[in-house]
Amino acid sequence: MTSRDASRADIQTGMQMLADKVKDHLRSLREQGRPVSAEQEIRDAFHLRYYYGGLEGGTWTQTRWMGATVLKTPFDLRTYQELLFGVRPQLIIETGTAHGGSALYFAHLCDILGEGRVVTIDIDPAFGGGQRPRHPRITYLTGSSTDPAVFARATRSGAGSLAGERVMVVLDSDHSAAHVATELELYALLVSEGSYIVVEDSNISGHPVPADGAPGPMEAIVPFLERHPEFGADPACERHLFSFNPRGWLKRLPAGADRGGGGA
Ligand SMILES: C[S@@+](CC[C@H](N)C(=O)[O-])C[C@H]1O[C@@H](n2cnc3c(N)ncnc32)[C@H](O)[C@@H]1O
Repeated sequence: MTSRDASRADIQTGMQMLADKVKDHLRSLREQGRPVSAEQEIRDAFHLRYYYGGLEGGTWTQTRWMGATVLKTPFDLRTYQELLFGVRPQLIIETGTAHGGSALYFAHLCDILGEGRVVTIDIDPAFGGGQRPRHPRITYLTGSSTDPAVFARATRSGAGSLAGERVMVVLDSDHSAAHVATELELYALLVSEGSYIVVEDSNISGHPVPADGAPGPMEAIVPFLERHPEFGADPACERHLFSFNPRGWLKRLPAGADRGGGGA
């Protein structure tokens, strides 16, 4: 067997494993009595194929913006471009920097728009080798996103100091439900009307990526939306049919608006 035959065999085995995962997911939905339309089946099958492809070293783990790894899908990056153009945030706070590719992407969009700065927080300053891109609009902070001292540094002393600024927040750090719930309560205070707090990776824990047993971002989003009618999940951000952040694009509605308007 040549090395080319061997790698082809590896790919076929990998694809078979992926196909089995998709079948397991669909079987589990059927067993739970959750009806799945033909369209939803196609979407979920692609989502799982794409997601597991990343875990095996392809798709979203090989996505780069100007050379920096960005752990997002091209569809979601495209959606961010539209949000930034619409909101024109003066401040973007990102929790979870990783390689810095998403922070660089936001900073370059701010360059095009002519305004905005990016504060990005990570507990691990050496993630991915610590070679993060430098850009005058980006400030890197080290620490846990829910540490009050880190929050104070990100906001230059607390939520009140940002009053009147257009602020957008992206939560992409520890994806446990408990951590995301704490982040949501803390950072949602900063979000200006018409802007967004995006909860990344709500696709895990069964939406549709099978749960590993632990509740994830979706389990923080649902109770948050129940407690906070001033926010709504914006279905327009999921119009590409595929997002890693289902129900995670949370728009701060104008005062007095109900969720029938800007969000669902
Ligand atoms: C999914 S990655 C971020 C991906 C990045 N935003 C992107 O799109 O390329 C998650 C990051 O969160 C960081 N992290 C984990 N727990 C954290 C916490 N409590 N506070 C801040 N960052 C944390 C990890 O070190 C990791 O770099």
